[in-house]
Amino acid sequence: MTTDLASILSDLRTDHRNVTIMLNLLDREIAETGDLNEPDFELMRDIMLYMTVYSDAVHHPKEDLVYAALAAAGAEFAAGLENVESDHRDIGVLGRTLRHEIDAVLTGTAVARERVIEDTLDYIRLLRLHMSWEEEDLFLRADRLAEDAASGLDLTYLDTPDPVFGLRTHLGFSNLLAHIHRAADSGTTG
Ligand SMILES: [Fe+2]
Ligand SMILES: [Fe+2]
Repeated sequence: MTTDLASILSDLRTDHRNVTIMLNLLDREIAETGDLNEPDFELMRDIMLYMTVYSDAVHHPKEDLVYAALAAAGAEFAAGLENVESDHRDIGVLGRTLRHEIDAVLTGTAVARERVIEDTLDYIRLLRLHMSWEEEDLFLRADRLAEDAASGLDLTYLDTPDPVFGLRTHLGFSNLLAHIHRAADSGTTG
């Protein structure tokens, strides 16, 4: 099944808006943490689950395919984008590490709270930088490719709906979705 590049780019941009909501929620949890206030580790676990089962497993591989299409279209399209795949690997490793640390907190295994907070802040920083680079460079080149030629990509193995923002929210994410709605109502997910 081939999907046209323009609609893939539209989906990728939607994913970025949704990931921004997740990162803002993480940011808020950390900002509100203090001597008397623990982060909501269950919420953080749900967010990191989403980031690993959807962003790392579906969103980033789609972007890798977009990069491969740019590389196939010629050096002028792909020059300077070589880091995209290794960036995705680094983000995946940090995301899995953070998810395991949060799981460890929730199961009572000794893990320093400061370590989790530091890794969360690193994760937020890395993802925001990565997404803005993609939006300002990778996606714009792919827009040009989509205009130049009727190009499409085979997404057969990546045709997985978003488990939170898709038409049906996976049951395990209903608590996370409720948090997102509350934060949107209070205007804090921006
Ligand atoms: Fe990416
Ligand atoms: Fe992305």
